[in-house]
Amino acid sequence: MPRVLFHKHGQVFEDEVKDNTNLVVRAGIKQFPYPNLRYECGMGKCSKCACRVLAGAEHLPAPNWKEKKQLGERLDQGYRLACQLWISHDIELAQDEEIAA
Ligand code: FES
Repeated sequence: MPRVLFHKHGQVFEDEVKDNTNLVVRAGIKQFPYPNLRYECGMGKCSKCACRVLAGAEHLPAPNWKEKKQLGERLDQGYRLACQLWISHDIELAQDEEIAA
C-alpha cells in the first residue's frame, strides 16, 4: 500500500492509503490527510488543493489539462493538484499555508 507523507503547518503527517487513492476524496470522508489538506472543489477548478511533490513524482502521470490550466508555471516547481491525483506509489507532498496568487 502506498505510504503518504504530508507536510503542513511545519509538521509531517503520515499514513498508508489504499492503492489508487485520491487524497481529496479521502479528506472528504474525514480520513487522512483530513483535516490538514486544504481543498475546495475536488474537480480541478479552484487550485486550493495544490501541493508540491517532494518525492515520488516520477510515479505520477503527466499533469492533465486542468492542472496545466490551474497551476501554469507552478507545474515546473513540482506542484500538482491533489484532487487530480490517484496515488498508487509512495509519495511525499507539501502544501503551502497560502497559495501565492
Ligand atoms: S480541490 Fe479544487 S482544484 Fe483541487
